[in-house]
Amino acid sequence: MSKLVLVTGGAGYIGSHTLVALQEAGFDAVVIDNLCNSSEVALQRVETITGKPVRFYRGGVGDRVLLDQIFAENAICAVIHFAGLKAVGESSQKPLEYYQNNVAGSLVLLEAMRASGVKRLVFSSSATVYGSEAPVPYVETLQTGSTSNPYGTSKWMVEQVLRDAANADPELSIALLRYFNPVGAHPSGLIGEDPQGIPNNLLPYIAQVAVGKREELSVFGGDYPTPDGTCLRDYLHVVDLALGHVRALEWLADHTGAEAFNLGTGQGTSVLEIVRAFERASGESIPFQVAPRRAGDLPAFWADASRAARELGWVASLGLDEMMADTWRWQSENPHGYRAVDEEG
Ligand code: NAD
Ligand code: WQD
Repeated sequence: MSKLVLVTGGAGYIGSHTLVALQEAGFDAVVIDNLCNSSEVALQRVETITGKPVRFYRGGVGDRVLLDQIFAENAICAVIHFAGLKAVGESSQKPLEYYQNNVAGSLVLLEAMRASGVKRLVFSSSATVYGSEAPVPYVETLQTGSTSNPYGTSKWMVEQVLRDAANADPELSIALLRYFNPVGAHPSGLIGEDPQGIPNNLLPYIAQVAVGKREELSVFGGDYPTPDGTCLRDYLHVVDLALGHVRALEWLADHTGAEAFNLGTGQGTSVLEIVRAFERASGESIPFQVAPRRAGDLPAFWADASRAARELGWVASLGLDEMMADTWRWQSENPHGYRAVDEEG
């Protein structure tokens, strides 16, 4: 059996960390990425960390000709599908782009897998599929849906497509990995999250304040029904998350069907707790002010991660201090991300 994995979106934040985990676990990787939200430098850095080559095809997962070429040229045993657009706010402004990339792109990928006889797939899903009505902690048996933006709906739709595909083809083996809030960076400081423009997410924003690129953090809402009034999320280290993909690949080898797994720590942490933890790890102070709530934010959610522990043998092992220290190392050693200079103008 080949140990060659096709990683779509492999130049991105989670994809690049997963390439390291794959190579360290004895897998080889081929990447397809159109670089719409990433840099080829990330792939070079992965090669520096692991000392192993990554074969790279630049292009979109909606390009069936390119996918057929990749499957013809490489003996691929499984696909990890990260490629997609992920900005929640932007998805309401550009719903067609989100459905085209995330849903139509996944369909083309599935058709190409079928044509080449590849039966194993790990899909990047999200805690967002639980929607706004679900009780916490989120457990995989809950009904999904009630998503509140096109991004979330696109993830939910792909999950339905994958379940139907697995029902129709009993040889298919699919893991739907529902990530909670991935943060942190590889401890080498060579790869990390490199958002373009103003960061939407909390940790990249805090890191940019710490490095002097932004003046202060706006804490979105201080009057939620939580212990300190700020929202609770389940932050997990991206290195743990990357290992979850390796465990999922191993699970695929002796299971069929489409199954969902939460990947989180099982613990909720508030925005203010994150600010304090980051200050501790970096030695920098993070000026902030409490601002109005952000539309669409839920007060609190975290994972019931027991299924992944039981069936994948995966548990998150890195804590908040490592998440913060590794974010800070990445940001302070690469203040402009993968670019040599600040290109924001
Ligand atoms: P990212 O933007 O860093 O990585 C996505 C990669 O896919 C990028 O390299 C981008 O250039 C590429 N890409 C996008 N559309 C493409 C297309 N049509 N064809 C080929 N390449 C394409 O994002 P990430 O944080 O690494 O997220 C990876 C996956 O995990 C995404 O599907 C995302 O929705 C999902 N996810 C992310 C989070 C999170 O908080 N980061 C949480 C849950 C789920
Ligand atoms: C975390 C907390 C904010 C920025 C999003 C997607 C979700 C998933 C992960 C992909 C919230 C607060 C943030 C800031 C703040 N992605 N915050 N000031 O919203 O939990 O999840 O990313 O699937 O689908 O919705 O993550 O990092 O944006 O916010 O106070 O400048 O930090 O209000 O409470 P979120 P986040």
